[in-house]
Amino acid sequence: MPPVWVLGLESSCDETAAAIVSSEGDVAADVVHSQVAIHAPYGGVVPEIASRDHLRAMGPVVREALARAGRTLADVDAVAVTNRPGLVGALLVGVQLAKGLAWASGKPIVGVDHLVGHLLAPFVRRSAQELRPAFPYVALLASGGHTAIYRVDSPLARDVRELGATRDDAAGEAFDKVAKLLGLGYPGGPVIDRLAKNGDPSRVRLVRPMAHRKGFEFSFSGLKTQIAQIVAKAPPEGEQAIADLCASFQAVATAVLVDKLVAAAEAEGIRDIVVTGGVAANSELRARAAAAAEKKGLRLSVPAFASCTDNAAMIAYAGACRFVAGERDGLDLAASSIGVLPRRTVRGPGPRAS
Ligand code: KG4
Ligand code: ZN
Repeated sequence: MPPVWVLGLESSCDETAAAIVSSEGDVAADVVHSQVAIHAPYGGVVPEIASRDHLRAMGPVVREALARAGRTLADVDAVAVTNRPGLVGALLVGVQLAKGLAWASGKPIVGVDHLVGHLLAPFVRRSAQELRPAFPYVALLASGGHTAIYRVDSPLARDVRELGATRDDAAGEAFDKVAKLLGLGYPGGPVIDRLAKNGDPSRVRLVRPMAHRKGFEFSFSGLKTQIAQIVAKAPPEGEQAIADLCASFQAVATAVLVDKLVAAAEAEGIRDIVVTGGVAANSELRARAAAAAEKKGLRLSVPAFASCTDNAAMIAYAGACRFVAGERDGLDLAASSIGVLPRRTVRGPGPRAS
């Protein structure tokens, strides 16, 4: 069967994106308009500002993606759009434009769960060298809004099972909050990554969260509180002290993510592992995952940088997989803040039944 080509739209948070990708993962165009600069003064994403900027940018971004691919709507087989989970007012912009495009062109529409998009990101082909995982694989998805480990048996949401998620903050949220505490600006992940390179991770002792707990759940709010207490007691003075604190935080956060991923793969008896989501752009996380995979004989796939943070190529690819499997949505497709993947981890502190 020849590959199908899908136009994908993404507007779940603070990136307005459109891409044209085939069911084999080939990318004809990939356009991302980032809102980071307009949210930066507020230290985080402001939902109404996000919706208004998506409304302004979405049309031109789609037009640019089609122009870069040298195609028109008539040349694509379907329109895919992120319809969950995310900020509803932001999702509505992409969903409504996708419906308009589908209606005007007579093409089918497929809704995509943003998290499924992240989980399939390693299939988006950005260079010939990228290693693609084989099903089933165990994936760590660490982003600004979500952190969990999944077993992925096929590209379809019904074949994805959560093995453990964070009980409180997402890993990326912890990077962002720590950066805010240190006055480093937003988003925090890339700045901490850069500063940590010059820091000594052994200078500040931090208690590792969930270290003695079995299972694959995470907790990052306590780690952030430890940093808040250190900063309140003795604010780090000078570049080196800040770099040391960044390095200590990053070492603990990335070690817990990688250790649980490897333990989950071993428990499932699966050799293929994936690290994905915005935090997968972190250099220490990538290095630790590569070292652990080498040591344990696991096959690690990490998406290219452009596929780690929010983008529409992963959405177009996930939509192509649904389309090829015969799945379609109607013009009544709704937006939702809740994803399709059933959540098994109970939120909040305290003991668990098992
Ligand atoms: O996947 P993403 O673009 O958006 C969500 O779906 O949340 O992830 C954004 C998150 C932010 O919290 C950002 O600080 C984090 O990914 N991030 C990083 C790095 N680059 C982005 N975290 C650690 N190190 C990085 N290099
Ligand atoms: Zn995301």
